[in-house]
Amino acid sequence: MERYLSYWSYFFLGLLPLQMVCTESVKDCVVRQEAADCSHLKLTQIPPDLPTNITTLNLTHNQLKRLPAANLTRYNQLIILDGGFNSISKLEPELCQNLPLLKVLNLQHNELSQMSDAMFAHCIGLTELYLQFNSFQKISNNPFKNLKDLRILDLSHSGLSSTKLGTQVQLENLQELLLTNNKIHTLKKEDFDYLGNTSLRQLDLSSNQLKEFIPGCFQSIGRLYGLSLNNVQLGLEPTEKLCLQLSGTSVLSLSLSNTQLTKISSMTFRGLNQTNLTALDLSRNGLSAIANDSFTYLSHVEWLGLEYNNIGHLYSRSFYGLSKVKNLNLKRTLTKPKNTMFSFPKIDDFSFQWLKCLEYLNMEDNSLSGITTNMFTGLTNLKSITLSSSFANLQTLTNATFSSLAHSPLLILNLTRNKISHIESGAFSWLGRLEVLDLGLNEINQELTGQEWNGLENIVEIYLSYNKYLTLTSDSFASVPSLKRLMLRRVACKQLDVSPSPFHPLRNLTILDLSNNNIANINDEMLKGLNKLEILDLQHNNLARLWKRANPGGPVLFLKGLSHLHILDLESNGFDEIPADVFKGLSQLWVIYLGLNNLNLLPDSLFHDQTSLKSLSLQKNLITSVEKSVFGPAFQNLNSLDMSFNPFDCTCESLAWFASWLNGTHTAIKDLPSHYLCNTPPQYHATPVMFFDISPCKDSAPFKLFFVINTSFLFTLIFVVLLVHFQGWRIAFYWNVTIHRVLGFKEMDRQAEKLDYSAYVVHAQEDARWIWKHFCPMEEKDHSLRFCLEERDFEAGIPELEAIVNSIKRSRKIIFVVTRNLLKDPLCKRFKVHHAVQQAIEQNLDSIILIFLEDIPDYKLNHALCLRRGMFRSHCILYWPAQKERVHAFYQKLQVALGMRNRAH
Ligand SMILES: *[C@@H]1O[C@H](CO)[C@@H](O)[C@H](O)[C@H]1NC(C)=O
Ligand SMILES: *[C@@H]1O[C@H](CO)[C@@H](O)[C@H](O)[C@H]1NC(C)=O
Ligand SMILES: *[C@@H]1O[C@H](CO)[C@@H](O)[C@H](O)[C@H]1NC(C)=O
Ligand SMILES: *[C@@H]1O[C@H](CO)[C@@H](O)[C@H](O)[C@H]1NC(C)=O
Ligand SMILES: *[C@@H]1O[C@H](CO)[C@@H](O)[C@H](O)[C@H]1NC(C)=O
Ligand SMILES: *[C@@H]1O[C@H](CO)[C@@H](O)[C@H](O)[C@H]1NC(C)=O
Ligand SMILES: *[C@@H]1O[C@H](CO)[C@@H](O)[C@H](O)[C@H]1NC(C)=O
Ligand SMILES: *[C@@H]1O[C@H](CO)[C@@H](O)[C@H](O)[C@H]1NC(C)=O
Repeated sequence: MERYLSYWSYFFLGLLPLQMVCTESVKDCVVRQEAADCSHLKLTQIPPDLPTNITTLNLTHNQLKRLPAANLTRYNQLIILDGGFNSISKLEPELCQNLPLLKVLNLQHNELSQMSDAMFAHCIGLTELYLQFNSFQKISNNPFKNLKDLRILDLSHSGLSSTKLGTQVQLENLQELLLTNNKIHTLKKEDFDYLGNTSLRQLDLSSNQLKEFIPGCFQSIGRLYGLSLNNVQLGLEPTEKLCLQLSGTSVLSLSLSNTQLTKISSMTFRGLNQTNLTALDLSRNGLSAIANDSFTYLSHVEWLGLEYNNIGHLYSRSFYGLSKVKNLNLKRTLTKPKNTMFSFPKIDDFSFQWLKCLEYLNMEDNSLSGITTNMFTGLTNLKSITLSSSFANLQTLTNATFSSLAHSPLLILNLTRNKISHIESGAFSWLGRLEVLDLGLNEINQELTGQEWNGLENIVEIYLSYNKYLTLTSDSFASVPSLKRLMLRRVACKQLDVSPSPFHPLRNLTILDLSNNNIANINDEMLKGLNKLEILDLQHNNLARLWKRANPGGPVLFLKGLSHLHILDLESNGFDEIPADVFKGLSQLWVIYLGLNNLNLLPDSLFHDQTSLKSLSLQKNLITSVEKSVFGPAFQNLNSLDMSFNPFDCTCESLAWFASWLNGTHTAIKDLPSHYLCNTPPQYHATPVMFFDISPCKDSAPFKLFFVINTSFLFTLIFVVLLVHFQGWRIAFYWNVTIHRVLGFKEMDRQAEKLDYSAYVVHAQEDARWIWKHFCPMEEKDHSLRFCLEERDFEAGIPELEAIVNSIKRSRKIIFVVTRNLLKDPLCKRFKVHHAVQQAIEQNLDSIILIFLEDIPDYKLNHALCLRRGMFRSHCILYWPAQKERVHAFYQKLQVALGMRNRAH
């Protein structure tokens, strides 16, 4: 009963059954497993109440001034302590004593300036120590002496002027020493003596002001494998000296990015002859020339980075000696020589012939003119070449363009963004091994005859998206049946209604992208036989008509038979109808995008076969209800759902099932509180769907009936009251009429009775003249017509009231000549009207005729005479016309009303 009461109160007060969820937000450390995150909490104290068994404590971005050992004793299980980004100026030697398990200590961005031998004396287990962004200036004695397990030491941005961190051999296990952004000018021999037993994987001295390398400086390091000197203003000569100092070392990787090395000559890398260097980074140097034989001494280099330089000319022997290079990066390496508008950087023919081992060549973003006959000749191991945005004049690809790659076992060719407008037949016939061809973002504008792809016997992927205008024919892909991935996004291929379909030879196709083409017309054979297709992109087309019931020939079921389809994108197609069996048989569908359409009602069992669906997008449609009969199968195994921005109807019928499903599901639904809002009913408008309370919907069936009956009773009652109030007179009047009829007061045959008058005329005294003027002439014209006029026909001596009653009885009809004067007449009001109406009730509703000489509103008529126009037949209500020409018509109407004539029109 209580529930019913509350339901009523909701009904009457228009309240939404909401269950607001409130969450408290207390700023506190977040403890997850054994890690406590206390970052960004403005702490000035170490939290004293964390679990004692934490192994990680993050105190970064706070306002700590000290890390008192006593306060950390409680957390003696700590392995990682991160105290970065505070104002710590002192470190107690007891800290490590109290944290015997500590391995990682981070104190970056603090205010440490002193470093004593005692500071880390007890940190014997430490493997990583981060001290960057403090201001030590100088390190004396041996603060790191006991850090036998240390692998990483970061002392960048510390104001150091020397690399010397100790006076005796130590740090045997150090692998990375980071000393970037310090004030180191000179590398002296003795400055690395303390690393005499160390095998350093990486020594980073970037962003220092190094100028001098004293002989033997690197030799004093046990072993040095990697050296970074990025952003050091070296220039040509110091670089040469550096390389001489590296001679004989075990250095494998050298990074010299942004070192103002604008030129290299055959002497520059001489010192590297006696090394096994495998990686060299020379990027961002403003390098303008690579003299012949510059790389002669780099016979072990496998990875060479030359990106972002200004080379105007690559000579035929610039790369001589790079016989082991596998990976060469020439991105934005070759630029237009300055002050020359029309010339292009040049690559001499056969320049790459020395790179016998080259597998990956990146040449994107260069401003070359075109591909010369022997540009790539000799690259006998090349697998992948990126020529994206490399050429200014590559408009047409002919059967000669790639001849220099004929002997390369090329697998990937990237030609994006080159303004290519035409591909001639056989253009790729040299590249029989090619698997991936990227022609996207060009200006190709042609009909694809299929000859373009001749010779691509092993092709797997052709990327043609974002081109100007492609016309497809039945043979467009006939020569590449091995194709698995075909991308045709935004290529203006509107006409796909060809038969047989352009895709019919592609039996192994797994991905087909036809999006953004404004396609409006396809037939149900377009994808026929593509039963390996897994991904189909058809978003941003114009396919709405194809699924309409009204489509001539019925809906086009173009997805028929795609039994391996996993991902289907149909967003933004204007769909407002969807055939019930359109997804039938697509039982492997995992992802469906149907967002940004106009879908409202989805047919029952639409998703009948989609029980393995993982992701469903239906955002921005016109969906109002989410019912089990439609969505039940699709929601079974769903991982993610997007139905945001739909106009949900928050009633039990439309949403109860969805709301209860939401309650129990683990499916990821983004922005549920903000983007899933009720649209109807009005009182819930803009309320989040997740607050919809389903409890009143549950077993509501008997109650619903109760509710319906009560509501209808209430409304009936209200209706009756209103009816009586406004139309009571009519009911009373017709009630009287009906009663008289039922009780047998039949219309008497007045003909038999003695009827002296055609009509008794009721009028006001003041209107007598009008009556005489207009009624007497009528009597004269028609002798059967005789009005009873009080002044003329009342017998003298008979009391007036009696005379009236008698006269009314002797008249067939009663005419009221309605004017304002009549309404004022007291006798008329009480008596004549009563009798007239009585007679009308007893005999015939036609028996009263109202003639309005003036415009009298109905309420005045009712107020004064208790008459209403609505009581009488319309042909019994006449108006005296204002225009003379219509007076004749008035007389005719009056005759009709008097029953003198049949109703004329
Ligand atoms: C260390 O603990 C003492 C006593 O519990 C407290 O007064 C002090 O503020 C704490 N210091 C820090 C930096 O947490
Ligand atoms: C750590 O301590 C918390 C309570 O302080 C306890 O719930 C948790 O199980 C402990 N973890 C381990 C690994 O002992
Ligand atoms: C501590 O938190 C900061 C900021 O949230 C984060 O950058 C840092 O990686 C964390 N440190 C550790 C050891 O997790
Ligand atoms: C270079 O490698 C070879 C073979 O691995 C080795 O014998 C030689 O000592 C190395 N040279 C240097 C300078 O480390
Ligand atoms: C480079 O070093 C080798 C010995 O490792 C030597 O035989 C060769 O002549 C040197 N090359 C040049 C050009 O100095
Ligand atoms: C290239 O095309 C031209 C005609 O455009 C033809 O004469 C020539 O034989 C073709 N060359 C090859 C290798 O197919
Ligand atoms: C081709 O190069 C462009 C630009 O670097 C890149 O975005 C694209 O992914 C590349 N294509 C392939 C197939 O790797
Ligand atoms: C299609 O794929 C199958 C299996 O991977 C392969 O045997 C067949 O040769 C392929 N068809 C073509 C035309 O490449």
